[in-house]
Amino acid sequence: MAIIHSQLKKTKDFEAKRSAYLQLSEDLSSLSHRAWYTSSEEARTLAKKRNKLNVEERIETLIDPGAAILHLAPFAGYQVDGLEEPGAGLRTCISQVAGRRVMIVANDPATKGGTYFPSTVKKHLRAQRIALENHLPCIYLVDSGGAFLPLQDQVFPDREHFGRIFFHQAQMSSKGIAQISVVLGSCTAGGAYVPAMSDETIMVKGNSSVFLGGPPLVKAATGEEVSAEELGGAEVHSRKSGVSDHLAEDEFHALSLCRSAISVLGKNRNNYLQRSQTPCSPLYPAEDLYGILGDDLRKGFPMREVLARLLDGSEFHEFKESYAESIVCGFGYIDGFLVGIVGNDGILFSESALKATHFIQLCNQRNIPLLFLQNIVGFMVGKQYEHEGIAKHGAKMVSAVATCRVPKLSLLVGGSFGAGNYAMCGRAYDPQFLFSWPNSRISVMGGQQAAKVLGDVKRQTQQRKGGTVSEDELQKYETEIQQRYEKEGSPYYASARLWDDGIIDPLQTRTILSLALESCRFDEEQAYTPGVFRM
Ligand code: COA
Repeated sequence: MAIIHSQLKKTKDFEAKRSAYLQLSEDLSSLSHRAWYTSSEEARTLAKKRNKLNVEERIETLIDPGAAILHLAPFAGYQVDGLEEPGAGLRTCISQVAGRRVMIVANDPATKGGTYFPSTVKKHLRAQRIALENHLPCIYLVDSGGAFLPLQDQVFPDREHFGRIFFHQAQMSSKGIAQISVVLGSCTAGGAYVPAMSDETIMVKGNSSVFLGGPPLVKAATGEEVSAEELGGAEVHSRKSGVSDHLAEDEFHALSLCRSAISVLGKNRNNYLQRSQTPCSPLYPAEDLYGILGDDLRKGFPMREVLARLLDGSEFHEFKESYAESIVCGFGYIDGFLVGIVGNDGILFSESALKATHFIQLCNQRNIPLLFLQNIVGFMVGKQYEHEGIAKHGAKMVSAVATCRVPKLSLLVGGSFGAGNYAMCGRAYDPQFLFSWPNSRISVMGGQQAAKVLGDVKRQTQQRKGGTVSEDELQKYETEIQQRYEKEGSPYYASARLWDDGIIDPLQTRTILSLALESCRFDEEQAYTPGVFRM
């Protein structure tokens, strides 16, 4: 395979971009640390007093020693719905337990009693969706006060709300995807269905409870006075009600029982993506990426320089190199996994869409997963392009992406704007995993353009009504819009709302993509049936 020979020159501009990126990387690292270690000193002391572990200690105790952890949506809930810290009171990750790859969903009781905010529900459902697609056994480490009651209208009644968690559990169980609950604390009302809907449930003596209504509710409803332990403690459920299948002495015992339950799940009959060659590092250091990318998207960067630092041996079998150069397509390896790359090197034209559509079909024919590297301002606009049918050519690419049978991964390496987001496999196109770099931005269009469009609309509507709008007023209006787009285009704003599965550092990207690729289930026998391409 051909090697990408880097043309990078370490100029002053490179150094300026590099130091700007170092700041982005430091911010990411400190927020990631906060997302993992959310418990305050006070919460840690309380947990110890209650003979409990913190959520991160629970996960570390559960997984195989030294097993890698693929964190999912660590920034969910950050500065949303009154939550200040990232995480939304829930940890979701893929890791290994008893030699088996699993999805772990763990409540963090230190965040508002592990209750479910809207972003908590979304994060839980996203983890289940990944587990469902990839047939990953689910382990729920339950310690939660259930729905966050002040926001009940945003977590309870709708299709993608709390109830969907149990729907997913039933769906997964019916497909033979194991559902195991370890109840390590409270599990009240709707939350009680997590262990009740599980295939196998473990409870801890004296420290866990499951009930549909807690003691105060029971007293109010029936007058009966009963303690939490008597009502729905581990002994009651393991010896009397049968809601629990295993009675653990303490948390360590419970987590070891869970490992034991996973060890007897039987043979894993699913096919996962496999490495097709021995992994090797790129020829060029990933550290260069900081100076290539910088923190200002308007400056742009060459996609092949990025690929030279992501692909094994910097090797790339490029497809149609001299045709439609604004899109880069080709084959390469990431940590030994063969992938088809679709990356932007400029705006999308009709021929770029056609080239990408052709390439996506090749990958589907050859059972090769796709990796989309998004840095796209959108499709080209203007009379010439409309007349040549850019809308129908773009539609072919969107259709090819939507009907892929091979796993798709998306990485926002730069901008993700307009219909370019769709054609390049944005969230709505169900990539198996979607990650963003900290320099990325996402919105329907850039802030400046949006301000201009809305300013024009305002002026025209005022004119139609016979009024006028002053230049000052217009200026103020446009500035507000631009500022809002600036705020909402931030990757942290996006990640807090689960528009991606996490923001990752360019230096960790190969490791994270590799973990994601090895978690992708793929059935090679599944038929490839693309939709009708508008010709
Ligand atoms: N909705 C909103 N807030 C809740 C809540 C709920 N369901 N459950 C707990 N909280 C809040 C508490 O008000 C407290 O807030 P604060 O830190 O601002 O004071 C915080 O979460 C921690 O709760 P606390 O009771 O101090 O912690 P704990 O570890 O001693 O107990 C629970 C945790 C979950 C066992 C206990 O709070 C509880 O029983 N909550 C009610 C559960 C319930 O009935 N849920 C029904 C859901 S349908």
